[in-house]
Amino acid sequence: MRLVPFVAALPLASGQLHKWATKAGLEYYGSATDTPGFREREPYAAAYATYDAIFANNDEFGQTTPTNGQKWMFVEPEPGVFNFTEGDIVADLARKQGKLLRCHALIWHSQLAPWVEATKWTPEELKAIMKRHIFGVASYYKGRCHHWDVVNEALDEDGTYRKSVFFNVLGEEYLKLAFQWAAEADPGAKLYYNDYGIERPASVKTAGAKRLVKMILDAGLRVDGIGMQGHLHADNHATMADHMNTMQQYVDLGVHEVAFTELDVRIKTPGVNETKLAWQADSYAAVAEACVRVKQCVGITIWDFYDPFSWIPHVFPDNHAAGLWFEDFTKHPAYDAIINVFKRFDNRKEIAVVPEKPVDDCKEGKGKDAKGKGKKRSLRSARTTGKSYCIEQNWGQPPTRGTTKTTSAAFTTTSTGNGIQTPSPT
Ligand code: XIL
Repeated sequence: MRLVPFVAALPLASGQLHKWATKAGLEYYGSATDTPGFREREPYAAAYATYDAIFANNDEFGQTTPTNGQKWMFVEPEPGVFNFTEGDIVADLARKQGKLLRCHALIWHSQLAPWVEATKWTPEELKAIMKRHIFGVASYYKGRCHHWDVVNEALDEDGTYRKSVFFNVLGEEYLKLAFQWAAEADPGAKLYYNDYGIERPASVKTAGAKRLVKMILDAGLRVDGIGMQGHLHADNHATMADHMNTMQQYVDLGVHEVAFTELDVRIKTPGVNETKLAWQADSYAAVAEACVRVKQCVGITIWDFYDPFSWIPHVFPDNHAAGLWFEDFTKHPAYDAIINVFKRFDNRKEIAVVPEKPVDDCKEGKGKDAKGKGKKRSLRSARTTGKSYCIEQNWGQPPTRGTTKTTSAAFTTTSTGNGIQTPSPT
């Protein structure tokens, strides 16, 4: 047994997430973005130029979703009166920059125009309102939406239907009508059911999502994908195996694709420390790796990348730092953890990173070890912090799991050609 260097990636150039995600086999890595001046960003005008430059780099983000602008309250604020001013800001940015556009969201109980809930509608009236809305919005954006979140958050926490105005008046028929009309209005868009809390394999809400989507598919209608929003918690996050298991359950229903549509990983206040950031990095990395390992997982969208623009502290005041860039525009350790996952794959096949030759300064006693915290800990540290450590390895043996997690000038990358398709314990 001897020590060889575990050298993390060289300092990362800017603009990596989409570039490495697509090389690993995903269609995109993206970020939601919003109108300058909207609630979260209003106090941060001084940060816009730096933010915009990061966002504009398609090697970083190859896809976007309007955080708010296409929601009902903006696009149809009065009955039959459509206004696409807000929705167009991000849709036009996507077109200008050549980013894929996920459109969000046609039917949702929240951020509805107040008039929709102000009247007691008959079923026929509400159907006509829904139809006008879906045709009005999806026809306007026809041909521009790679995906549409047709129905958003139709489930309660216990997996039963949420008692929205749509459900209360129309029952589950509203779900079928929404998918039928969206398919008619924009036949080229992939149609998604989107929800939060549906990332874990055994949760009642995951079971609810499966029931809901199966019901629509059984009616002969098209649901192309299931969007797992992925609003996760650093201190209690699902594992890679959990995500893979859940996605496989969705694929087994007959949907062609799945995606993480609103990923963020919140950290409990007060403070941000190395431990919490390491949990967060593991969580982001677990999503990235699960998505690569399940070939129907087409991409990952983070629900904004810059902490001050995140909705999390506004809605969950005991949480913060859920994104990948801190307020001063330095990156969370999760950023490198995600990149290091993607670098281990080529078109969904795991590639081994084999050391070319041992490096002398890691001979016993000379190299910097993991401060006595043991082999497993050193590997984890390197994954999440990008720091270099020496780890133990039998020289000349086939690469261990640890050696596949690195890249450096001293290492060469070769394909093993044996992409792993089953969950491994985490
Ligand atoms: C959030 C936005 O980020 C906030 O700016 C807004 O005030 C409220 O909505 N699930 C969704 C998203 O589908 O549309 C929500 O976005 C976050 C939860």
